[in-house]
Amino acid sequence: MEKIFAGKTALVTGGTGGIGKAMALRLGVRGARVFVQGGSSPERLEGTLKAIRDAGGEAEGFLYDAGLPESAAGILDRVPRPDILICAWGPYKRAPVEQLLAHDWLFLTAANLTLPGILISSVLGNMIGKKWGRILLFGGTNTDAIRGFATTAAYSAAKTALGVVAKSVALTAGPYGVSCNVVCPGLTDTEYTGKAARDYNRERSPGGIPLNSGEIADMAIQILEHPQVNGAIIPIDRGLKL
Ligand SMILES: NC(=O)c1ccc[n+]([C@@H]2O[C@H](COP(=O)([O-])OP(=O)(O)OC[C@H]3O[C@@H](n4cnc5c(N)ncnc54)[C@H](OP(=O)(O)O)[C@@H]3O)[C@@H](O)[C@H]2O)c1
Repeated sequence: MEKIFAGKTALVTGGTGGIGKAMALRLGVRGARVFVQGGSSPERLEGTLKAIRDAGGEAEGFLYDAGLPESAAGILDRVPRPDILICAWGPYKRAPVEQLLAHDWLFLTAANLTLPGILISSVLGNMIGKKWGRILLFGGTNTDAIRGFATTAAYSAAKTALGVVAKSVALTAGPYGVSCNVVCPGLTDTEYTGKAARDYNRERSPGGIPLNSGEIADMAIQILEHPQVNGAIIPIDRGLKL
């Protein structure tokens, strides 16, 4: 595998499991020095670091509860100047709009929009100065356009807004060698997907086949490899419409 990210430092939020872990592995194999942030599982953190190192990559990591707007500073204290920023962690809650609580709105927008936004604002100046940077954000299923969502309004509103963030960064930082894009995965089975969600994913996915983390990451890593793609909102969902 060509080490196309040799000499680059990557930060992957939510990088110890699911799609984030799959991204971290691919970055490590391509030569980046990878910092993974996980939530609460030391086992998953250790497992991720081992997997990256066993594959010949360089990895460090830490656990950090990132659910508050001020959390970004705690993450950046550990990895101040990444050349590559992957915002993978993205919790959701299913409930009709009228049942969402104030806490839900604050948490879901903080985790899915504010945290990526603050991280980007904090690292972008350095990327522009170096004339090189890659930012990849993870949207939600079908959040590539303004749509209505019966049970994920807060999550999906925050995820849809990431498109504005990516296009704004591409507009101003694109001329300085920085790309910023949003990938919107289809229904994807991961180690976090419980039985009910797996059944739902199978029932709703085209052909009855949900995606897996590796499939999403294989496509997403190509976006990082090709800065010609910039300010794009890219569904990787086999054409699924919820
Ligand atoms: N999976 C899908 O079907 C799907 C579909 C559409 C979009 N997406 C989006 O794709 C992205 C990746 O999703 P995913 O399903 O692979 O995983 P995810 O659940 O969003 O992320 C898992 C990662 O987040 C960490 N984490 C958990 N709680 C945390 C907290 N409070 N603070 C900081 N980190 C925390 C986990 O660490 P621990 O293991 O230590 O808890 C793990 O590293 C998300 O943005 C998601 O919204 C997913």
